Amino acid sequence: MIKPHGSDTLNPLLVTDEQQRQQLLLEAEGLPSVVLNSAAAANAVMLGAGYFNPLTGYMNLADSLEVAANLQTRDGLFWPVPVMNLVEDISAISGAERIALRDPNTEGNPVMAIMDVDAIEAVTDAQIDTMAEQIFATLDPEHPGVATFTGLGRHLVSGNIQVLSLSYFQADFPDTFRTAVEIRNEIAERGWQKVVAFQTRNPMHRAHEELCRMAMERLDADGVVVHMLLGKLKKGDIPASVRDDCIRKMVELYFPANSVMVTGYGFDMLYAGPREAVLHAVFRQNMGCTHLIVGRDHAGVGDYYGAFDAQTIFIEQVPAGALEIEIFNADHTAFSKKLGRVVMMNEAEDHTKDDFILLSGTKVRQMLGDGIAPPPEFSRPEVAQILMDYYQLETA
Ligand code: ADX
Repeated sequence: MIKPHGSDTLNPLLVTDEQQRQQLLLEAEGLPSVVLNSAAAANAVMLGAGYFNPLTGYMNLADSLEVAANLQTRDGLFWPVPVMNLVEDISAISGAERIALRDPNTEGNPVMAIMDVDAIEAVTDAQIDTMAEQIFATLDPEHPGVATFTGLGRHLVSGNIQVLSLSYFQADFPDTFRTAVEIRNEIAERGWQKVVAFQTRNPMHRAHEELCRMAMERLDADGVVVHMLLGKLKKGDIPASVRDDCIRKMVELYFPANSVMVTGYGFDMLYAGPREAVLHAVFRQNMGCTHLIVGRDHAGVGDYYGAFDAQTIFIEQVPAGALEIEIFNADHTAFSKKLGRVVMMNEAEDHTKDDFILLSGTKVRQMLGDGIAPPPEFSRPEVAQILMDYYQLETA
């Protein structure tokens, strides 16, 4: 099986021994504590679940700056996006060596991790801006990722952590949320060798469905792991539970049994386009996938990134051998009226734009809001129905 990133075996930071976990939770109640912001909490979930292997905690300032600038830690570990715990108010923890980290997304802010504090460092506005520009390729405050990142706080609290809870994800998505360890184990149990990961933050339309099918056929893969984002998205994006229902329906009706695993992970969307695509590759390798599909405007938003920048970054900025997972590059996929099926547009000869059914996300949302089903060439009718039901409730 494909090795995790940066180590021979996966080292999730979640404490799984229940007695030890209870002891640590008891200890945590007596420690100085801080409520994490959602981005830092999402990092804790990813660290706990093994997705961010081989990291052992949050990066300090020197590593964060180095990762943002050069996609590696000062020790030379390849890593595409700083894993930071930025804090606004450190008055409750200043001088402390061991602290509790609390969950901002669960009522009562229960403890989610204990940290051995390595450093508490002030971060300047200039350093935040430098990192934001390197990660997001823009400083536009309208960019949702930039807006979040630049507002997270100016104190970096770094150090190793022991994770005591994976927040609300297991409770809210018991059938879908999976740790990297669980996915690895399931891939091994199924005996899959060649495994394609599909990243998504959307209900799966026919273009998405066909991408999975094409990757599976062209790579002669044993299966696909649909891995949906379950954390926070920007306003207007479709909630995880609705996307989950759509994806499960599509897989049930349109894929052979046992060829697709429907799973999810607890991370907030960064909208960092190319850099996020590389992070996606790292954690899909950690969960045991050999390939990751990267299509058009992967992890993008608005017009901030070129349609295929998330593919070229793997050639231009990922050193040879840094990752074992391979990228399945896909061109823009759309339904061809001439051929009567979904195709990659660059493979359709003698086609003009008018030969394809092309609908923007905004247009589709508008149609659904008006109770109009997108055409069956764009969305499977059963998926469209789930979305229309959701939009009807939203607008009621
Ligand atoms: S993402 O933010 O998670 O990347 P989305 O769920 O829409 O957004 O996309 C999931 C994957 O499908 C990404 O790799 C994206 O590039 C790809 N993709 C989505 N729609 C298309 C399309 N029409 N043509 C080609 N690739 C696409």
